[in-house]
Amino acid sequence: MGIDLEAFFEHTKNTGLADFHPQLRLALAQFYQQKKHGRTPEWDAALNAMPQLSEPQYSFTSPSVTVKKPASLSIDAQAYTEHLKAFMPWRKGPWNLLGVDIDTEWHSDWKWQRIVPHISPLEGRKVLDIGTGNGYFLYRMLGAGASLALGIDPTRIFLYQFHAAQRLLPANGAHLLPLRSEHLPAFGCFDTVFCLGVLYHRRSPIDHIQELLSYLRPGGELVLETLVVSGGADTILVPEGRYAKMSNVWFLPSTQALEVMLRKLGLENVRTVDVNQTSTDEQRATQWMTFHSLADFLDPNDANLSAEGHPAPLRATLVATKPSA
Ligand SMILES: C[S@@+](CC[C@H](N)C(=O)[O-])C[C@H]1O[C@@H](n2cnc3c(N)ncnc32)[C@H](O)[C@@H]1O
Repeated sequence: MGIDLEAFFEHTKNTGLADFHPQLRLALAQFYQQKKHGRTPEWDAALNAMPQLSEPQYSFTSPSVTVKKPASLSIDAQAYTEHLKAFMPWRKGPWNLLGVDIDTEWHSDWKWQRIVPHISPLEGRKVLDIGTGNGYFLYRMLGAGASLALGIDPTRIFLYQFHAAQRLLPANGAHLLPLRSEHLPAFGCFDTVFCLGVLYHRRSPIDHIQELLSYLRPGGELVLETLVVSGGADTILVPEGRYAKMSNVWFLPSTQALEVMLRKLGLENVRTVDVNQTSTDEQRATQWMTFHSLADFLDPNDANLSAEGHPAPLRATLVATKPSA
């Protein structure tokens, strides 16, 4: 494995998170004991062939997470693009790394723009992003002032995508640990916990929300984005087969039902801040994600229905506060 996760432990050694280091190290060791992904040697080789910079210039505030190519750096742009393409499919972004535009499947910047006006300012906050994907949002969180942005995601290729950017950058507050949320300790110390696009993949949504709460400090903020359906407090869709061709979708509540769940778990100031039907401009196949995408998951004759005849993907963001102790 060519990826070094020590930066996280070094960055947090003098914080309350240090108490959890032994448990996290054990969970990571168990993760790596699992069968290696068959593409690991290919990914390690691509990562190791990429340049590193001594004085990078970068931006985390523009739609593309950007690391500029220094004028003094001479690279073979085609070879560098091929190394980046070794980590396809690139789903979350966009990114611009050393002048290469990575046009990802998702305009994740649109999601970020819908969320950020409604949350407590991230300046100086320690934030946790459950199911972060390749960490695109971690950099946007740093760009919004977060002092630490820890992402959790078990999908190995996304860890390589994150490190394709991270190796170009100086030491910073973004870290991605390849774990599942179930393997995390009850940190109880994060100022904001994000969970975007994960809840519908979990079989026990109420237990998952309770996990999320356990990571927050008293008074901390939960930002939850998930697939929902229209309807009142008694409306929940459990798709019997696939949903939008995904086999791992369990539970799509209405926003009202989700609000009830959050209040029932003791959260305060629960509010739905955004509801948005995903468009085929926001999620589409590109040169960096060449598989099927949203247009293929909808009814060809009615874009308001999924291929199976369910309501088309509708996403809501809810924000709530963990009660002060
Ligand atoms: C639909 S993607 C959402 C990515 C990103 N948060 C976003 O909103 O664009 C779901 C992500 O959750 C991750 N995931 C699935 N189950 C998880 C779990 N139990 N703990 C942490 N992450 C998980 C997947 O690997 C995937 O990257």
